[in-house]
Amino acid sequence: MDVEILGRVLSTLPAEDDHPYRTGPWRPQHTEWRAEDLAVVGELPADLDGVYLRNTENPVHPALERYHPFDGDAMIHLVGFRDGKAFYRNRFVRTEGFLAEAEAGGPLWAGLAEKPSSAKRPDGWGARGRMKDASSTDVVVHAGVALTSFYQCGDLYRLDPLTLDTMGRADWHGRFPADRGVSAHTKVDEHTGELLFFNYGTDEPYLHYGVVDQRDHLVHYVDVPLPGPRLPHDMAFTENYAILNDCPMFWEPELIAKGVYAPKYHPELPLRLGVIPRRGGSDQVRWFEAAPTYVLHWVNAYEQGNEIVLDGFFQGDPMPTEGGPFRFLALDRMRTRLHRWRLDLDTGRCREERLTDSITEFGMINPGHGGRPYRYTYAATGKPGWFLFDGLVRHDLLTGSEQRYAFGEGVYGSETAMAPRVGATGEDDGYLVTITTDMNQDRSECLVFDARRVADGPVARVRLPERVSSGTHATWAPGASLPGWRS
Ligand SMILES: [Fe+2]
Repeated sequence: MDVEILGRVLSTLPAEDDHPYRTGPWRPQHTEWRAEDLAVVGELPADLDGVYLRNTENPVHPALERYHPFDGDAMIHLVGFRDGKAFYRNRFVRTEGFLAEAEAGGPLWAGLAEKPSSAKRPDGWGARGRMKDASSTDVVVHAGVALTSFYQCGDLYRLDPLTLDTMGRADWHGRFPADRGVSAHTKVDEHTGELLFFNYGTDEPYLHYGVVDQRDHLVHYVDVPLPGPRLPHDMAFTENYAILNDCPMFWEPELIAKGVYAPKYHPELPLRLGVIPRRGGSDQVRWFEAAPTYVLHWVNAYEQGNEIVLDGFFQGDPMPTEGGPFRFLALDRMRTRLHRWRLDLDTGRCREERLTDSITEFGMINPGHGGRPYRYTYAATGKPGWFLFDGLVRHDLLTGSEQRYAFGEGVYGSETAMAPRVGATGEDDGYLVTITTDMNQDRSECLVFDARRVADGPVARVRLPERVSSGTHATWAPGASLPGWRS
């Protein structure tokens, strides 16, 4: 193994930090590494070719008053696979907010658990305002560039997908909607090369939807009027439609007027699903009503006859009251289960069904099946009472069968990406890749599974140079999609 420290970022966190989400599995890293030819237990398949990228909320500074686990600065971890060998990089995303706080030597903006009025600076980002755009929520690769994003809408930061150097903000040839930003969970359609996105805010029309083409031009951007401010987190798409949502959990308008942003669940209101042709206008949105819930993540959607089939995670209890602060993020408290909504384009009706009793979330698919018929999703199981992934499940949506793998006591994974094998001949012909945080061994590994044989455990374990903080959203980019991959 050839290891080099690229740099260390100066942190102002207390030496004896006792915050529950900055210690233990969430202990942040401040060293940036470059490591080649990583040590491997087992054998890395030669036809696993590309990069696994994972975003992480990894704080550099304490909060002004009260830290929330979504406030951390973005650190991207990259594990690359080429010719049966693996390499690793990790870098902070140099957002405007990150650089300003580095200059100031401490926090400047209010976090999610703090009032916007507590921010030290009058400016800021986020649907709520006066937050730091940490860009630490999600990561995708579009047009050969990695893009990181912020759940409350902000800039999209462009990163070299091999070096992780921050290359500035997405500009879309001067048409980036800088007034509102873009939400996390942009969607890349591998078949068209398009990037679909949405943003939301506290003023009318409350939601927008847009499309960026494969040459990085914004080619479509429309209003999607809602009855009031909402908190959408994710969207879905099919070959011909985009699917937006109006979940009945949102900031109370009367409280917003007082500067308080407290989400409230309204079980008396339906979940509304908005279907719009991918290049459709505001007047072409069709709304379907379904049983009330909050959906954090959709898995996929596709067209079948006159129906749109939409899969995602239904929350049995979107706002759990028990368990103390942050425990509401625990999958067992929210009771997140794989669920299917069928939207009938002829009748305007929605039929829905639970697909499994198992509690999972963060489902990933073969990316080539995004927006198209598919059969498998690979999802995370949660440590009871905690926002930690203790294993993964392969759901076969055709037969309902499941294959499970538990990481083991004290070992936590991240969102597990599906990497199609080079020359793959079937949807599940490939590998699953995840990064673990192992509290027993005080180390991290990147695990590689055969996507067809999850229960057998990893075929290879790749040792990373340092223990990585627990984190969630990740993506896979095939080497063939990355400029300079073979040079
Ligand atoms: Fe998310």
